[in-house]
Amino acid sequence: MTTFREALENTEFALRGAGVFCGHGYADSHDEAVALVLAAAELDPLSGTEILDRTVAPDSLKRLAEYTSLRVNERLPVAYITGRGALGDLTFHCDPRALVPRSPLMTVIVGDYQPWYRGRQPPRIVDLCCGGGSLGLLAAHHAPASEVLLLDLDADALELARLNLNEHAFPNARCVQGDLLTFVAPDTVDIILANPPYVDAEDMAALPQEYRHEPRIALAAGEDGLDLIHRILMQSKAVLAPQGLLFLEVGNSAAALLDAYPNLPMIWLDLEHGGHGVCVMAKEDLNLL
Ligand SMILES: C[S@@+](CC[C@H](N)C(=O)[O-])C[C@H]1O[C@@H](n2cnc3c(N)ncnc32)[C@H](O)[C@@H]1O
Repeated sequence: MTTFREALENTEFALRGAGVFCGHGYADSHDEAVALVLAAAELDPLSGTEILDRTVAPDSLKRLAEYTSLRVNERLPVAYITGRGALGDLTFHCDPRALVPRSPLMTVIVGDYQPWYRGRQPPRIVDLCCGGGSLGLLAAHHAPASEVLLLDLDADALELARLNLNEHAFPNARCVQGDLLTFVAPDTVDIILANPPYVDAEDMAALPQEYRHEPRIALAAGEDGLDLIHRILMQSKAVLAPQGLLFLEVGNSAAALLDAYPNLPMIWLDLEHGGHGVCVMAKEDLNLL
């Protein structure tokens, strides 16, 4: 007989011993162990400590052994093992067709784009490089009066985004395949949420194994991480409405961006839920390009 407490301790011990890298939505091996144990037992991910002294069913224990092996030996991120990920107050289908949801742009969405956006709900929002759709769907959920367009080049990622859209059924969101903002009409977008690939060559070479299960097209962005950013800036300048804003996540490539555009005003965000390398630029500033 194994209790949930024992299963949890054993799993955490295995993850710590293997030195797994926790960079996919969970703070540490303890949090990852909780997620694996609850998923293996098909329990609510928010279950409380009242379950700790209950016995784990044999089929759940068998599943937990499989999950732990995938995490420890294959280094699969938890969300690819359980098939579910979360961002803000929404959960999503998750698989290697798209990145595991974790963008710090989440804070901007749940904060209603304040204090930067001068208005209430922005009429038109684009989730640029949407992957599995976590940011765009969160935006559609938090601003039901906004029209949200989820855009990605990769057909596989978009298939996952569509699956997530079907599950949540937000009437104000739609998914479209496209190369960045090529098909978006000029002067029409109020908010662009851009989470493009931005990992530079040096960081790509040093990535922990966990990230190698994610699509390369979602991460790699050339020598300095800016391969797509130059086009995003020029296209955003064209498609943003007069009061429009570009929220851009560039992570460790922030220094390269600052070097490349020393005269472009960028406000770097100090985000409540952590994360770094996110800036906001206004249409009027992009007009300086
Ligand atoms: C960092 S991931 C985005 C992750 C997303 N926020 C999520 O939660 O799944 C970057 C995405 O950019 C897409 N992408 C790469 N090149 C693109 C392009 N030229 N146009 C549009 N999307 C592109 C990739 O397919 C990938 O899904």
